[in-house]
Amino acid sequence: MIRAMVEETKVTTDDLIFPLFLLEDPKGKIEVNSMPGIYRLGIDHMLKEIEECLKLGVAAFDIFPVVNEAHKDKMATKSHDSGFFYITALKEVKKRFPEACIMTDVAMDPYSSDGHDGIVDENGKILNDETLEVLGKMALTQAEAGIDIIGPSDMMDGRVGYIRDILDDNGFTETSIMSYSAKYASAFYGPFRDALDSAPKSGDKKTYQMNPANQREALIEADLDVEEGADFLMVKPALAYLDVIKLLKDNYELPIAAYNVSGEYAMVAAAAEKGWLDKTSAMNESLLSIKRAGADIILTYFAKEFAKNKQ
Ligand code: PBG
Repeated sequence: MIRAMVEETKVTTDDLIFPLFLLEDPKGKIEVNSMPGIYRLGIDHMLKEIEECLKLGVAAFDIFPVVNEAHKDKMATKSHDSGFFYITALKEVKKRFPEACIMTDVAMDPYSSDGHDGIVDENGKILNDETLEVLGKMALTQAEAGIDIIGPSDMMDGRVGYIRDILDDNGFTETSIMSYSAKYASAFYGPFRDALDSAPKSGDKKTYQMNPANQREALIEADLDVEEGADFLMVKPALAYLDVIKLLKDNYELPIAAYNVSGEYAMVAAAAEKGWLDKTSAMNESLLSIKRAGADIILTYFAKEFAKNKQ
């Protein structure tokens, strides 16, 4: 009793955002090989999944599209096509569950034939300013679908301000921006790229994602995001970057989010499958540590499992 009373940190379902992968086939359901227990879902299954999660107390979802290779091109054209299956599905989700908080990702990679977050020129260079135009159209199309939180994960310079202006100019002043402020060039995104089949076709993301060796640089990135109008600051990945979460928490008044990414989930899920550790305890300790470090919000593939275990 006393132990519980003096416990400094508690994780609740209110803190969690559950990332989901949307398939084009409405009836599709395919497990992600490298993420045991996590499925890519067509809209029919996704509506059921969201309904179940809402009953368990998880009310926020970050929905990513799985785009067939045939729909991909250099300019990520489908990312701002309001007739594309992703956008129509988002509208359906918001119509069925207006009480759910829906977040989307702004970056070109799921729709890009190059598998990069920005436009790639003939020399393999990422074109920052040209990319902003695509990102702006993408964010506006998502906002028009009724999305609550726009999540720019692309790491182009100036994108938060650019997107904020476009949203405001079009009357979406209430749509929030959760900026991936300190997003590191990490090996822990591997399973996510399997899930979306979105790995870069050549090169890596080191010219726009942060160097894992740098902590102070996160302050520079966060300063820019605050100035440009972000509503939340995010650190990603979470477990290998607890110091960065603490740093941002100590230096900013905005809510801090942390993304407990696909590789962090996969390590626990795979070891648990082998019987090498207890999944529930490892999950609880991971989420607790991320919150203890200073995260107000945690994006995690464990969200539903955590909620079920709390029942
Ligand atoms: C897209 C994006 C990525 C993730 C979220 N948005 C992958 C990447 O940057 O390569 C990773 C999430 C995860 O690993 O769970 N830019």
